[in-house]
Amino acid sequence: MLYELLSEYNRKDIVPMHMPGHKRNTAMLGCDLPYGIDITEIEGFDNLHDAHGVLKVTADIAARLYGSRRAFPLVNGSTGGILAGVRSAVRYGDTIIVARNCHQSVYNAIELNGLRPVYLIPDIDESSGICGSIRPEQVEAALGGNPDAKLVIVTSPTYEGVVSDIKAICGIAHHHQIPVLVDAAHGAHFGFSDFFPPSPVSCGADIVVTSLHKTLPALTQCALLQVSGGLIDEDRLAQALAVFQTSSPSYVLLSSIDRCVRFLDCEKDTLFAAYEKNIRAFDKSVSKISKLKLLCHGADGGDKHEHFFGFDPGKIVVSTRHTNLTGFELAQTLRAKYRIEPEMASADHVLAMTSVCDSWDALTLLIGALLDADRDAKVVPCKDKPVCQRETPQMIMTAAEAAGVRGEYVPQEAATGRISLEYAWSYPPGIPYIVPGELVDAQVIALLRQIADSGVVVKSTKGRLPSEIFCAASSSTCL
Ligand SMILES: Cc1ncc(COP(=O)(O)O)c(C=O)c1O
Repeated sequence: MLYELLSEYNRKDIVPMHMPGHKRNTAMLGCDLPYGIDITEIEGFDNLHDAHGVLKVTADIAARLYGSRRAFPLVNGSTGGILAGVRSAVRYGDTIIVARNCHQSVYNAIELNGLRPVYLIPDIDESSGICGSIRPEQVEAALGGNPDAKLVIVTSPTYEGVVSDIKAICGIAHHHQIPVLVDAAHGAHFGFSDFFPPSPVSCGADIVVTSLHKTLPALTQCALLQVSGGLIDEDRLAQALAVFQTSSPSYVLLSSIDRCVRFLDCEKDTLFAAYEKNIRAFDKSVSKISKLKLLCHGADGGDKHEHFFGFDPGKIVVSTRHTNLTGFELAQTLRAKYRIEPEMASADHVLAMTSVCDSWDALTLLIGALLDADRDAKVVPCKDKPVCQRETPQMIMTAAEAAGVRGEYVPQEAATGRISLEYAWSYPPGIPYIVPGELVDAQVIALLRQIADSGVVVKSTKGRLPSEIFCAASSSTCL
């Protein structure tokens, strides 16, 4: 194992006349950061960008574990994998079919590669306002209408746990000889038990990017890119990974990836049997909750959400919509009264993430907190629809073209009819409301205002929202 090799190497007391500059001198540094196993690519420790030794073993275990043709360990999260995966599958200026509810990293890939996106707009789950699945018929229609498209990109599961029918989507795309990239940053735990959805790799996806660090025991930034099938050029992919990943990969992170995949390789059956048992018991315990609503948990079956093809039972989305509580207030109660820090809170929901590493005691604490909150909450009739984006602004030019346009700050109220030269989003989940090159219309202005009014922070590339938005200058000659 890589961790043991690193520890053994550290014990040998070899004098490090190489990077990193801390020289493993823990006596001098006097803190417990992992200096002892933090090396660079020295003799005997392989090379991430051309792995033949110990790092290839890690990659091979990962590929075997998920059933992919080849796996690439990633040390700057799914972000690096998405940038490299998209780069490997397209040429500058290509058209791609892409789910609108993709993460910012996909949009960055679109901009960097000068791509023309054709968006797949997910239906909205009206009970919660979160995005539903991408339907295979949408992919079929988009490919039919855009025969020049070179890639399909879908996020499954989404940040909230919504899964799309990746098998059907891949069947359609492959019929057109088009590869599918699945951003499964939140789905590294899929495929190890029937209780969870199948992994996108087993559903036929050509490139699958997963963040080990999000849902499995791995340090932050640890991720994997997996490639399968014959539609992706592995050499281009390897080159792209070298562009988007550091040339000094952290062995602390690499040993965490190694440990994570080996741990699962040996223990997955036991781990996922216990995880399933815990989540089933959790569901039973929260089945009486009636004012709060736990999406696809307890009394709220998946069949109540017509726009969800599937759902990750590891995600617990607690909707406060029909109560006197906001999501922020519920999160604050969880924090202050129960010492539970949720993954995120929004105006009308809270998201709690579980994993194989949660003890039953931890889940019991969450159950107790939710039962108490449900008991104390008051039902408030809620007539308004959830605040979410229902219309996508019109694309006037690609994001890459917009990058070449001269801009100016325009007060948000006066920006209708102008072309945005910046992104605006809330994080998490980091899905843009508007993208450079899109028309600022009345709907998007109203949406940004509604979101800000609900207490959710809207971020923008230039950082001046909500007061000003960076738009194409009225005098710009490029327009
Ligand atoms: C859907 C989705 N894709 C990709 C990413 C990027 O993953 P990472 O943080 O591992 O770079 C995120 C991060 O939150 C995400 O939510």
